[in-house]
Amino acid sequence: MLEMSKTKLPNYEQHGQTITFDYSNHQLQLTVLTPEIVRVFEYRGNDGSSYAIEGSKEQKTDFTIKQIDDHYELRTSALTIKLDAGQHLDVYDQKGNPLVTDYRGKRQLLNKGIDKVHERLVKAEGHSVSESTVKSDSGYYQIVKSLAADEQLYGLGDKTGYLNKRGYEYDNWNVDNPNPQLENFTKLYKSIPVMLGLKNGRPYGLFFDNTYKSHFDMGKENSNYYFYTAVDGNIDYYVLGGRSLKDVVTNYTYLTGRVPLPQKWTLGYQQSRWGYSASQKEVQDIVDGLKKYDLPCDAIHFDVDYMRGYRVFTWNKDNYNGNPKKFVSDLKNQGIKVVPIIDPGVKKDPEYQTYASGIKNGYFVTSPDGKVYINKVWPGDSAFPDFGNPKVRQWWANNNKFLTDMEVSGVWIDMNEPASFEGQIPDNIIFSDENKKSTHKKMHNVYGHNMARATYAGLKKQQDKRPFVITRAAYAGTQKYSTIWTGDNRSIWPHIQMMIPQLCNLGMSGFSFVGTDIGGFASDTTSELLTRWIEAAIFSPLLRNHSAMGTRHQEPWSFGEPTLSIYRKYLKLRYHFIPYLYDLFAQESKNGLPIMRPLVLNYDNDPRTREINDEFMVGDNVLVAPIVEPSQAKRLVYLPEGQWIDFWNNREYEGQQDIVMDAPLDKLPLFIKKNTILPWGKSVDHVSEKADQEITFKVFGDHADYQHYQDDGTDFNYQDGEFNQYRIAVDGDNVNVQLKHHGFKSAYEKITVELPDGKNIFKLYNNGKYQDQ
Ligand code: GLC
Repeated sequence: MLEMSKTKLPNYEQHGQTITFDYSNHQLQLTVLTPEIVRVFEYRGNDGSSYAIEGSKEQKTDFTIKQIDDHYELRTSALTIKLDAGQHLDVYDQKGNPLVTDYRGKRQLLNKGIDKVHERLVKAEGHSVSESTVKSDSGYYQIVKSLAADEQLYGLGDKTGYLNKRGYEYDNWNVDNPNPQLENFTKLYKSIPVMLGLKNGRPYGLFFDNTYKSHFDMGKENSNYYFYTAVDGNIDYYVLGGRSLKDVVTNYTYLTGRVPLPQKWTLGYQQSRWGYSASQKEVQDIVDGLKKYDLPCDAIHFDVDYMRGYRVFTWNKDNYNGNPKKFVSDLKNQGIKVVPIIDPGVKKDPEYQTYASGIKNGYFVTSPDGKVYINKVWPGDSAFPDFGNPKVRQWWANNNKFLTDMEVSGVWIDMNEPASFEGQIPDNIIFSDENKKSTHKKMHNVYGHNMARATYAGLKKQQDKRPFVITRAAYAGTQKYSTIWTGDNRSIWPHIQMMIPQLCNLGMSGFSFVGTDIGGFASDTTSELLTRWIEAAIFSPLLRNHSAMGTRHQEPWSFGEPTLSIYRKYLKLRYHFIPYLYDLFAQESKNGLPIMRPLVLNYDNDPRTREINDEFMVGDNVLVAPIVEPSQAKRLVYLPEGQWIDFWNNREYEGQQDIVMDAPLDKLPLFIKKNTILPWGKSVDHVSEKADQEITFKVFGDHADYQHYQDDGTDFNYQDGEFNQYRIAVDGDNVNVQLKHHGFKSAYEKITVELPDGKNIFKLYNNGKYQDQ
């Protein structure tokens, strides 16, 4: 794998499902976790356990290990791994097709053809010569794998650019960079070092569990290989197999965890803007606007302005008639929930309780000389909680009680890369790694992860609800505690375009509950951009319009007509789809498959789907092809195999072809796969916390089968079986509704099945069964 060949095969020892190969200079371990997941590990001095993976994932698995000619061969029912004397590690599927093989040649460093003199010149005008901050040739170790001519690479979390990452390079180092995020950005707020590949159409995944700064070159340096390199840490990666890309995602989320079932209202529309919460009146005006213009909405986000001088866990009462709690509760009575922001930076102010208690307990990160480390964020000089320490997480979880006592409905956590205004936090600042001392160098990329974990734990303890946390920074596995948004995008067309591959790759990286700032955060939006954005984003699980202070307002009514009516039309459509999205989340919590998917995830056998950046799917059967360019009223849509029904006029199309769709400003091209049933929520202003008495299912095609999930939408009782599972089967006019699992007391009293010809079949609940009305 790393050094050049030694001729003799190493000895090995087997303990359970771990085999340790004794190479002369180090030991290499392979651990079989399941038939489709094998861990490759080489200790390089880094103690401490994984932040991404909780608990043991090892399942009892049959495998064999044999010497065959010049190499060892480890076989599970799904994967074959060959390891030779030169430490080359090659992975094949069960038919012997290569999936992940070590590159045998020497890397050819990319020569940008510039000398120091000219580099100075280029930099004088403000250009940068290398986009990457992790020098790819100075890696502490490097893992170089062969790239086939026909190989596409996906995943990597929130990275900018296109769906297929091939040909680009990326860094894993969480940053808050205010420049417009374009495809040459190597890093953003999250580090999720998982990649998925299709090598000659065969799926695999690789997850590198290392929190240190690391780098992916996805065939940019050379189209014959891709590589991963890190500045420190162990070699610790997982090879993920599976018969389909979906299986690979299921295996990855088996390892790092899945998004837990959310509260149902969190799928509703959310309105936000930096600045609203400086005054109660401004927030109330927004809520009144939503009502006046008949716009369904479930939450308002309170940005940093609600606090007292940006002190976290405080509320400026003066701007809330002395009683913010009453206001939060008034809003709740108006159907609007409050989600306030919390940043990690704690203002340096000895009079301020959170700071004082952090100092007293030694809960902030320090310089090597033991002094509390100070940098600037919104409140000015601030200290940074040491979230790697379990006691600090506990303290932070408890601090959230200030907010839950105010009866907020979720917490939005930000600036947790951590961002700092006076230069980056130096690598040597002392951070905890659980109960050991460590440094920023190791703990940086899991700072947001540990803050999310603490916030989740606090909300879980203090509220009898499924916690709703939104974070900006994340590491692999953060999906277990928090939803995410993609940070500070801009009101520019390239960013509505970027949204699709970015959310799809996040989905394939385990993050199913995702969204962008609709309309764009920085710079001024336009009526056309806002309109196309709400259309394109209407199926993004987190549906929030958010903008920066000082930019043009972008509430749905800000541009008058026709923007307002179109915006309303799509918000109403979203609320009809909420039961479908909720069903997808119920499935996701079991199989890890995202809600918003690139076409390739559902059709990985179809080469045409592998590079599509401007269409996506919602679950298995809904295809969305938004307009993401200005002044366009038509577009080409690729439909994969099967028959597809235009949602707006029921026209049928054969799949495996490109069609030209008309899409005037008010139209989002939307297709339902023939023979699909969709649950259809009723028109509401807010998601109700009371159980629905009725539901409708819409049938597309002539025969279909659907499983529908129902519970109280708020708490954890579903884990004790308090949910209902329905099966709806349709064959022509024959409609059969079964209540397959009845654990949640309020089963629907009436179910309407809407057939394609407009005929409605009604079923009434009677004693555990549904019968014709
Ligand atoms: C950061 C966040 C943004 C927020 C702002 C003020 O830029 O990404 O969403 O509005 O800080 O808190």
